Amino acid sequence: RPPVHRTIEAMQAEADAARAAGRRLVLVPTMGALHDGHLALVREARQRAGGDGHVTVSVFVNPTQFGPGEDFEAYPRTLDADLDALAEAGGVDAVFAPSAGVMYPFGLPPWVTVSVRDLDRHLCGATRPGHFEGVTTVVTKLFLACRPHLAVFGQKDAQQLAILRRMTAELGFGVELVGHPIVREPDGLALSSRNRYLSDEERAQAVVLSQALRAAEAAVELGERDAAAIRGTMEAQVAAAPLARLQYAEVVDADALQPVDTLSPERPSGGRYLAALAVYFGDTRLIDNTTLMVR
Ligand code: PAJ
Repeated sequence: RPPVHRTIEAMQAEADAARAAGRRLVLVPTMGALHDGHLALVREARQRAGGDGHVTVSVFVNPTQFGPGEDFEAYPRTLDADLDALAEAGGVDAVFAPSAGVMYPFGLPPWVTVSVRDLDRHLCGATRPGHFEGVTTVVTKLFLACRPHLAVFGQKDAQQLAILRRMTAELGFGVELVGHPIVREPDGLALSSRNRYLSDEERAQAVVLSQALRAAEAAVELGERDAAAIRGTMEAQVAAAPLARLQYAEVVDADALQPVDTLSPERPSGGRYLAALAVYFGDTRLIDNTTLMVR
């Protein structure tokens, strides 16, 4: 099993020693309950770190990114199993698993936060107020504790990745961000720590998220450029699953994350768009997305 650091000081000491030895430090931030999607990020981190690099996986269920009534208390905390999974996967030099008291020593809410504007107006930001401020704040703190040269994030949380890219560029963190493709089950369902909440029936119907995105891609492939029509295609797919309740299906440009009426090659993001959706099965909220390219 990799060594587990529970304090910022211990983590920084290991990171500083690795930096002083000229090693390349790579961080994979997670909230634990690790699945094969997380482990794919760890493998990518290992590759990017190189043979004598240093890979840290952080495991912290961050209270500030959960809203009232969300699943913070219920969120699975399985550090023992996570450490076994990381030991079996191999290639991890350190695990950073702080308590909430370590990460937020002055209590909640924190006195100092990192906020964003506009990029959180749509998609998950619209329905989870304060969520991305919780994410930017905790990722800032994880970067300061783990001092990585590079950090790996999943494209599964595309809005999170776009916001963190903007944050690191704008604040000049000197941390390179790498996005890893979405890892899926054989039927297309994106792996998620929340999939374990699904009943068998819900699990079977959860395939509609990826099916809706494939339908959106197919529509664009066939020449559809009207965002409302693409949204309609996704909505119709989700409506076919009786247990699914659509929260949003949106088409936004891939840079500014603002909704568009028409997909075009030039504006506003060089023809790159994001189709994204959030769907409830009972109390379980699932998200998925895909990049739409038009030339
Ligand atoms: P968590 O949901 O645990 O996800 C950790 C990382 O794994 C994120 O970068 C996420 O995008 C990635 N990931 C999850 N499922 C994936 C899948 N099926 N395929 C590819 N990547 C996947 O995201 C968070 O934690 C938190 O917001 C965090 C960044 C740790 C800040 O608290």
